[in-house]
Amino acid sequence: MAEQKNDLMEKIVSLCKRRGFVFPGSDIYGGLANSWDFGPYGSQMKKNIKDHWWKFFVESREDMVGIDAAIIMNPKVWEASGHIGNFSDPLLECKECHDRVRADQITSFDFADGTEDERKERAMFMSLWVINPARAIYSHPDIVAHHKWICPKCKSANKIEVPKSFNLMLKTFLGPAEGSANVAYLRPETAQAMFVDFVQLQQTSRKKLPFGAAQIGKAFRNEITPGNFIFRTREFEQMEIEYFFNPKKSDWKELFASLQNDMETWMKAVGIDPEKTHAVDIADGERAHYSQRTIDFEFDYPFGQKELFGLAYRGDYDFSRHAETSGKEVGYLDPDTNERLLPHVIEPSLGVERGMLAILLSAFEEQKLEGDDMRTVLHLKPEIAPVQVAVFPLMKNKPELVEKAREIFTILKKDFRCEFDDNGNVGKRYRRQDEIGTPYCVTVDFDTLTDGAVTVRDRDTMQQERVKIEELHKYLS
Ligand code: GAP
Repeated sequence: MAEQKNDLMEKIVSLCKRRGFVFPGSDIYGGLANSWDFGPYGSQMKKNIKDHWWKFFVESREDMVGIDAAIIMNPKVWEASGHIGNFSDPLLECKECHDRVRADQITSFDFADGTEDERKERAMFMSLWVINPARAIYSHPDIVAHHKWICPKCKSANKIEVPKSFNLMLKTFLGPAEGSANVAYLRPETAQAMFVDFVQLQQTSRKKLPFGAAQIGKAFRNEITPGNFIFRTREFEQMEIEYFFNPKKSDWKELFASLQNDMETWMKAVGIDPEKTHAVDIADGERAHYSQRTIDFEFDYPFGQKELFGLAYRGDYDFSRHAETSGKEVGYLDPDTNERLLPHVIEPSLGVERGMLAILLSAFEEQKLEGDDMRTVLHLKPEIAPVQVAVFPLMKNKPELVEKAREIFTILKKDFRCEFDDNGNVGKRYRRQDEIGTPYCVTVDFDTLTDGAVTVRDRDTMQQERVKIEELHKYLS
């Protein structure tokens, strides 16, 4: 079963590379570990995911506004938000190979001796250590004294030590001098601009609480253990909403539930399999430093059940920190009561690449057809598929067919994402389109020239239907 799952991941990575969805970045220089570039189909699919999210959460709602802020912000933002002080991972370094491991990712397999329960207890201890080292050591001195952790990479046995804190922000310098006065950070989340710009967002949009601000953009983290293809990278895109409300007038639990419901509806709409998605309440002590309640939507990836998206109740943590650090009025003036307040915030936060991986994994199927025939198909939603309609002339060397097919292609591509293909036989063209998830293929054949109809082939059912050219647009819509 585990092998089958790894196999699935390999198949997805290979399809993405072969068909130009995603390939290793800087490849001619030997690549750069965990850096990926999105090719023609991948960049289109990523854009479709972002467009769908923006339409669903921003354009179709009255209570949302958009923002597109700078990636590099004043470093004081990160001081106030707690990222300079708290945004770190606990690291253990192997004495033999010097590989660094996140202490909370040491599993029961990473202990050499003991029963399964004992090893589980030690793994739990390592996670506890991350939260409170002093308490963990106090309550488990025997684990520290008598057991060793095994480096997952080189398998050497290592003494258990207090993990080192490693800040995850990517640092740079602005201007020619590289001193502490010029330090700047690439944002580790898009969220902060929505707090810092709140007053301008609210005043220019004239929105009353409750309302939300949404942003899509790059975020950067110097992850210690990037990997699993596009699941964890050091550069990625987020789609985030900060939903502001007056805690005296709105019930946070109701807003939280409503945003959770919206996220679930959106996930279904873009084709993330609900059967493989789990809403997990994150326990006290395991949440991010700013959160009072967090639900992680976890997904069954081939490498385990792991985080896909998050929903957090941030209270007024960020506003109070910015009010204190900036000394400015950062909150809301209630026009009805003239009361000044710091709004409370609920935050749906989604990674674009993780979303894309979950969609690909949900859509992928290897289907056995008649005899030994097989096909690989991505059952992508038409809104998400990079190509929506492929148009073929039955034969490449018949100018009258090519001309008619081109005519149809030119009309359809005004409203659909279309691809023209006249390479190889039609069967092979269908397979190519199945593999990239194209919902419909339209073929112009000799009959088209006399009956004015084309063959439309459905990706999922593989059924073919004759459709009049003048009805084609409506049919596909
Ligand atoms: N503003 C809140 C925030 O940033 P997070 O849980 O750290 O919360 C939100 O990140 C989402 O961003 C995650 O659920 C995931 O989808 C995505 N994400 C986080 N780190 C990532 C990484 N290194 N690579 C790819 N996606 C990542």
